Amino acid sequence: MPAAARPVPHVAPSILSADFGDLAAAAAAVVPACEWLHVDVMDGHFVPNLTVGPPVVASLRRHSRLFFDTHLMLRDPGRYLAAFRDAGADGCTVHVEVGGTAALIDQMRRLGLRVGLAANPDTPFEALEQHLGRVDLVLCMTVFPGFGGQPFMAEVLPKVRRVRQAVERAGLDVVVEVDGGVDERTGALAAEAGATVLVAGSAVYGEPDPGEAARRIAAAARMACPPVSA
Ligand code: DX5
Ligand code: ZN
Repeated sequence: MPAAARPVPHVAPSILSADFGDLAAAAAAVVPACEWLHVDVMDGHFVPNLTVGPPVVASLRRHSRLFFDTHLMLRDPGRYLAAFRDAGADGCTVHVEVGGTAALIDQMRRLGLRVGLAANPDTPFEALEQHLGRVDLVLCMTVFPGFGGQPFMAEVLPKVRRVRQAVERAGLDVVVEVDGGVDERTGALAAEAGATVLVAGSAVYGEPDPGEAARRIAAAARMACPPVSA
């Protein structure tokens, strides 16, 4: 069976590095360069930081039509999935480390969410492997979650490669995403390894023109991963 052409890489800007006092403007600033917005949700338990909850997502939803890629760094995500869906999240991603993954996947499906599964840098491929056939997105963290602005962990790239190979071998329609320390250089490395969605916080919102910064990261990734020709 011929391998399906890999989707062109694109950037999902993370609002974690944006001005939380003006999130509507932050979302608008990356249109039309991007179609996704990455919303980092932290509970102070799974990670040692706190960010936003469903009310903020609901408010932002009124100002943006971007796909909300909602990254739940929560110890008990099942408790909040319906609230995030109702607030306007398009996809939710839960961490495999919190356990109960099969039930969380079922719950997200029932809610009509796009289903994402994330793994920390030190969580092996095998923890993801058994769930690949039932998810829409796999997120390989390239930093330990909790904070923006950390350096990219290149040692995660072999795992990205294994996820990409497994997805292609099985002919699955699963997005491979990386998150943490992504800029033009590291985004290209991740794309070369097989990531097609690159989450970037500080490299987008730390720049004077976030839309242009996202465009540059995406362009570098596309150069590293040219479209497959038949
Ligand atoms: C980290 C978050 C990331 C973070 C990325 O816990 O999940 O989405 O915002 O920020 P940068 O791109 O600055 O590493
Ligand atoms: Zn994230």
